[in-house]
Amino acid sequence: MLLKVKNINKFYDNKHVLKDVSFEIKKGEIYGLVGESGCGKSTTAKILIGLTDKDNGEVIFNNKTMCQKGARTSKQIQMVFQDPNSSLNPMKNIKWILEEPFKLHKIKDKKFISNKILEMLDMANLSSDVLKKHPYEMSGGQKQKIAIILALLSNPTLLIADEAVSSLDLSGQASILNFFKKLQQELKLSYLFISHDLRVVYHMCDRIGVMRHGEIVEEGTPEEIYSNPKHEYTKALLRALPSSPEFMKELNSI
Ligand SMILES: Nc1ncnc2c1ncn2[C@@H]1O[C@H](COP(=O)(O)OP(=O)(O)OP(=O)(O)O)[C@@H](O)[C@H]1O
Ligand SMILES: [Mg+2]
Repeated sequence: MLLKVKNINKFYDNKHVLKDVSFEIKKGEIYGLVGESGCGKSTTAKILIGLTDKDNGEVIFNNKTMCQKGARTSKQIQMVFQDPNSSLNPMKNIKWILEEPFKLHKIKDKKFISNKILEMLDMANLSSDVLKKHPYEMSGGQKQKIAIILALLSNPTLLIADEAVSSLDLSGQASILNFFKKLQQELKLSYLFISHDLRVVYHMCDRIGVMRHGEIVEEGTPEEIYSNPKHEYTKALLRALPSSPEFMKELNSI
């Protein structure tokens, strides 16, 4: 098991925002967290990446109990945010931005660096022309791919994607989702894939946790969740989706 999250609780200003949250992610698995705005998805992610502290509970990553300080310095968990602009320096071109992690790791071999970057761009279906561009000269989908590549250059084993396709239109979403799938297959990456959109999670994930008011109320494979939802809240989420034949058609077109 790559990640074990055990009974995590979190309070913000006396508000109980995570209530005994527990889940596990296997090596190579895509685990989805779905639920309405404010249910605690990003708070869960921020605890894992070390951006905020849990009040109690346990996180075990690669068989080691993570203390908060450890999480902050672990490059093994990387996160991709909803807005790619949050991780891309607007003043620099993409070449500079993508070379930055190598500088941090004190890697100086120019050939190695350029090969690695070109290999990642190729996997993302981006031409090397983007290297000369600044973030503002690129589309939202292209910028998100660069933000993903940037996260991957630290060689993580777990990638957290928090609403990473929410700001994109359907074709932008499809392109990023395909990139994520390809990365999972070729790099054997594991994901915590967060979205409020059950369709996206259904399409992407091996297992899904449905979250409501800080609790995981139901967990299962996409098929189990879709064909046999147990919790009333999951049923309500499913009812809010378009009728099933259209839903399936749309899913298949992604
Ligand atoms: N830094 C903070 N200080 C105080 N309260 C916070 C803070 N961050 C989040 N919260 C509260 O914690 C709860 C969970 O927020 P969180 O951001 O985890 O929700 P979410 O599921 O990611 O929602 P969304 O789908 O809108 O991104 C919300 O009630 C939110 O207002
Ligand atoms: Mg959020």
